[in-house]
Amino acid sequence: MTVEPLRLTVNGRPALVPDVPGNERLLDTLRWRLGMKGTKEGCRTGDCGACTVLVDGESTLSCLTLAREVEGSSVTTVEVGDEDEVVARVRAAFSAAGALQCGYCTPGFVMAVAGLLRERGTSARREEILEALGGNLCRCTGYVAIVRAVDALRAEPK
Ligand code: FES
Ligand code: FES
Repeated sequence: MTVEPLRLTVNGRPALVPDVPGNERLLDTLRWRLGMKGTKEGCRTGDCGACTVLVDGESTLSCLTLAREVEGSSVTTVEVGDEDEVVARVRAAFSAAGALQCGYCTPGFVMAVAGLLRERGTSARREEILEALGGNLCRCTGYVAIVRAVDALRAEPK
């Protein structure tokens, strides 16, 4: 049986991915078929947030999402260019705050914050942002610099 190629828009560009079975995770499609290794695999069980991407603007755990479930959607990963102003701002804030050490968790944090800012803008309360990050784990930083990055984003003019 012929399987139709998977249609996605990834970081603003159309992607047509052949031979994607129904049980393939979006995480694997991104990393192994499209070569986008910025999205990380941590726990594989929805507990660490390392695999967070945006699907049609919403924070999504790509380890728990089947690629075929999001057929036709727009997927944004940490590799998106600076034309995505929200992601660019969040990346810059994490960098300025030194909010990473090994960096393994960072793409997930950046995309989770970007998802919330996209939804709520900088009017999002600090507690809301921190709550949205409750599913993202970091083994290195102690979170202080990550919270500093969040505070800097909220302090930026709208
Ligand atoms: S790898 Fe997806 S939540 Fe941990
Ligand atoms: S910076 Fe190493 S896990 Fe977060």
